[in-house]
Amino acid sequence: MDPIDTRTLQQLDAAHHLHPFNDNAALAKRGTRILTKGEGCYVWDAEGNKLLDAFAGLWCVNIGYGRKELGEAASKQMTQLAYYNSFFQCTTEPTVRLSAKLAELCPGDLDLAFFSNSGSEANDTILRMVRHFWAVQDQPQKNIFIGRHNGYHGSTVAGASLGGMKGMHKQGGLPIPDIHHIDPPFWFGDGGEMGEEEYGLLCAKRLEDKILELGPDRVAAFIGEPIMGAIGVYIPPKNYWKEIERICRKYDVLLVADEVICGFGRTGEWFASQYYGFQPDIMTLAKGITSGYIPLGAVMFNHRVAEVLATRGGELAHGYTYSGHPVCAAVALENIRILQDEKIVDTCRVDIGPYLAEKWKAWASTRWSAKPVSPAWLVHWNWCRKSRHANFSRTGAGWGSCAATSP
Ligand SMILES: Cc1ncc(COP(=O)(O)O)c(C=O)c1O
Repeated sequence: MDPIDTRTLQQLDAAHHLHPFNDNAALAKRGTRILTKGEGCYVWDAEGNKLLDAFAGLWCVNIGYGRKELGEAASKQMTQLAYYNSFFQCTTEPTVRLSAKLAELCPGDLDLAFFSNSGSEANDTILRMVRHFWAVQDQPQKNIFIGRHNGYHGSTVAGASLGGMKGMHKQGGLPIPDIHHIDPPFWFGDGGEMGEEEYGLLCAKRLEDKILELGPDRVAAFIGEPIMGAIGVYIPPKNYWKEIERICRKYDVLLVADEVICGFGRTGEWFASQYYGFQPDIMTLAKGITSGYIPLGAVMFNHRVAEVLATRGGELAHGYTYSGHPVCAAVALENIRILQDEKIVDTCRVDIGPYLAEKWKAWASTRWSAKPVSPAWLVHWNWCRKSRHANFSRTGAGWGSCAATSP
């Protein structure tokens, strides 16, 4: 490609590119920042500025930038077999291997994977499959999802409806019918004088109240991010999810953990449901599954749901052209190999998490004395083995940032 100067790129961008989640008119006036390179936890822009990427892309570059192994895995798979579908009784080796690897990593009996291109599509899949699950068991009326105000589950029609972002609902006539929301746990802002445990129970009771209001025979599933991300990071009280799990079991409501942000090590466990000690029936995965190097999402179903989907209701009338794309699967496998071989999740739990938590606690306690501020490990982290950043490379092992209010 011929080189294009930054100003021309910005002009072309303003003329031809509608940016997601942006005030596009203001952006066109200001000019977009054009990123050109990434290494470890740093990115560079077209003006030559080196930036610490505290967002890890969009909460997704879990192994950091510039890992050649992922490019090599993609290149090898593209050369050998760039594409084949998983429709019509076919699939490819990386797709099968990745399904098995995810089954091995995911907690409990979350053993069956369905692949999408993104977290949003994975949540769309969940909406349809859960309704189908109840319908083929003669309970078509059990079709209501309960999510949370300010929750984020993506930007497609179902994803944005399951989420509780009012600004998103306003655009496009959402939510779609039979989706309800309860208030999320936001102890720091909304807990008043309540202790953490008491507040956790109160928030979980909101789910029970809503199920009873709607009728347990109408409520299909509850969906939530173990730690809410897009709203600005709400860390739930430590007892919240166990209580949510108890309530879901009591009323036979499926429990969906949207691990799109939290998954693949961000809490120091592979999945945040393990950190909080609860067992989802269904899990949404994306982002860290490939460290953002290539788009991929997945839904993990437990045995109960998987068996019904596989054996009842005939052919599954759902799928994407790129479900289980072999190149994405090959990249995901390599990404997971790196996370495992380099013990990145363990490092997060035993080293970087506690270190950052300590720093965070010291900093935060000088500002907020009303509530004890303590860590939930790394909510937001990035791998930068080669970083020489003095504050974040104690072992030369990594970098991250955390924010939390639960012990
Ligand atoms: C919890 C959660 N679920 C779903 C999504 C949607 O994923 P995607 O943007 O890949 O569609 C996001 C994206 O940020 C997310 O944070």
